[in-house]
Amino acid sequence: MAGNKTVVLVSRPAGMVSEDIFAVADLDVPTVEDGQILVRNQYASLDPGIRKTLAETNTYWVPTPLGAPLTANVVGEVIESRHPGFQSGDLVVGTGQLQEISAFAPGPMCWKIDPASELPLSASLGILGATGLTAYFGLIEVGQPKVGETVLVSGAAGAVGSAVGQIAKIKGCRVVGIAGGPVKTKRLVEEFGFDAAIDYRGKTREQLEAEIRLHCPNGVDVFFDNVGGIQLDAALANMNWKGRMAICGLISEYNLDGPPAPMQNLFSIVGKTLRVEGFLSFVYADLFPQALREMEQWIKEGRLVWREHVEDGIESAPGVFVMGAFSCSANVLPVSTSW
Ligand SMILES: NC(=O)c1ccc[n+]([C@@H]2O[C@H](COP(=O)([O-])OP(=O)(O)OC[C@H]3O[C@@H](n4cnc5c(N)ncnc54)[C@H](OP(=O)(O)O)[C@@H]3O)[C@@H](O)[C@H]2O)c1
Repeated sequence: MAGNKTVVLVSRPAGMVSEDIFAVADLDVPTVEDGQILVRNQYASLDPGIRKTLAETNTYWVPTPLGAPLTANVVGEVIESRHPGFQSGDLVVGTGQLQEISAFAPGPMCWKIDPASELPLSASLGILGATGLTAYFGLIEVGQPKVGETVLVSGAAGAVGSAVGQIAKIKGCRVVGIAGGPVKTKRLVEEFGFDAAIDYRGKTREQLEAEIRLHCPNGVDVFFDNVGGIQLDAALANMNWKGRMAICGLISEYNLDGPPAPMQNLFSIVGKTLRVEGFLSFVYADLFPQALREMEQWIKEGRLVWREHVEDGIESAPGVFVMGAFSCSANVLPVSTSW
């Protein structure tokens, strides 16, 4: 027994990701190289972004070679350090591997967690981690919402989207979310404080356009997009003059085996002089400490809430990844595995 349970990629997905492309292997504890830390992970976040690493080539995280551990955001305790900024015993969050013990060089998405924090460690993978920071900077820096404006969010019941909606409310906006099914749309309004919610399931592009028009009678000033496809196209048709579109992710395309549906409303970008900007949260890493303080304060004041779904055991990770990020019937978020 090598003693380090790890989820490895055994084959590349074609279309919808399924559990059988992953396997749990027992690997050696990695050797720590100069500039790296060795972390005993307690939680791993099964973000949809992992899907992008499963292809042979991509323009996001580095592709995972066959047989290699999956990349994942993890939180745990440093047990050995060859990096001057960290020492054994530090609690850290960072981009490591989906395994019990991983070695990685601390990058922009790695920082120490205050052991005195009253919030659960898993929050550092969600609302006070990559997803919360993505919501914060995508909305505030890219979307630049102003008091009284209308913000539309797709993937609104997910980890990022639910935080975007709440932050937009804190900033004094009217907020409308798009999510799949009645449970999630109800949750958007009753739990996350959205002003209105749209159920996209079973709807055509034209029906979505009409629903957005209904719920955003003054048009959309900021669209925060996690989904792409016909939701993005329907939003384009409803944007206001000089609107901003913060393109965070295109989850509706991650499992496609062919090209996405063609866009029909692209001329709105010209006709409404829109700003369409993709972003990656790590670009704002210098500003993370101040954003984390602000979000922690909102949590203490009860203005920012979050949900998480945690399952025990690294063996559960493949099933939880498929269920959480890509099953539109799963009512869970964000999905982590602890052990
Ligand atoms: N730019 C960055 O720096 C950055 C950082 C983190 C994440 N992201 C991106 O942000 C997005 C949301 O991530 P997250 O962490 O919030 O994920 P999450 O909590 O897993 O939520 C994702 C949600 O997307 C919806 N979805 C899945 N497949 C869909 C489809 N085919 N069509 C429409 N909706 C679908 C599902 O909700 P419904 O049941 O409501 O459909 C699912 O719950 C992803 O696109 C991710 O890649 C970007």
